[in-house]
Amino acid sequence: MKFFVDTADVAEIRDLAATGLVDGITTNPSLVAKTGRSFLDVVQEICGIVDGPVSAEVTATDHETMLAEGRKLASLAENVCVKVPLTPDGLKTCKALTDEGTKVNVTLCFSSAQALLAAKAGATYISPFVGRLDDIGTDGMELIADIVQIYANYPEYSTEVLVASVRGPHHVVQAARLGADVATLPPAVLRALFKHPLTDRGLDAFLADWAKTGQSILGVSDDKQASRTSA
Ligand code: E4P
Repeated sequence: MKFFVDTADVAEIRDLAATGLVDGITTNPSLVAKTGRSFLDVVQEICGIVDGPVSAEVTATDHETMLAEGRKLASLAENVCVKVPLTPDGLKTCKALTDEGTKVNVTLCFSSAQALLAAKAGATYISPFVGRLDDIGTDGMELIADIVQIYANYPEYSTEVLVASVRGPHHVVQAARLGADVATLPPAVLRALFKHPLTDRGLDAFLADWAKTGQSILGVSDDKQASRTSA
């Protein structure tokens, strides 16, 4: 399963990319607005940090302008993936950009019927928003299960299921169980995946016992090592 990070915050991206666990980035106009920076500058900077696809969303709503925006975004870096909304004009733009060899992420998907249309339009990724479905009292994960099943019936579709609007580790694990291709995680959710109280407690106990042995794997006492590093 691929992990994308759902943020336009360059400092967060640098920090998380250093883990070696980040396969791509997704942004949206709201995330870009939070940074207070120029959209094009932010996209270019992110593309220089992460090798994988970086989703950058068009903001026009008509096909002609979306296409022009998509082409401009795609020209910024080779790893830009143009994000378009799931509207008739968005899917028309998806088809045109895909035909030109540009990767396209179709966003704001809330139904299986919409996901089917996106696959037919040649989307690289379909982004169903599970958290926002949960928020209105439906089960977002049911939509993921449905789309995964539908796409599996048609091997000619290469569209990957990118689970979006992820609220916590439970969504990531459920998405993985269902065989979703990608989950895009807010930084806090990616960090939360590491955590388990028994890991912390176990590590504390191991380190306390190790300290009692007075040994050092690198052949110097930990005190000496610390003073050499600080010198
Ligand atoms: C996905 O690409 C979207 O940017 C994102 O996952 C939306 O999440 P939200 O519902 O938390 O805003």
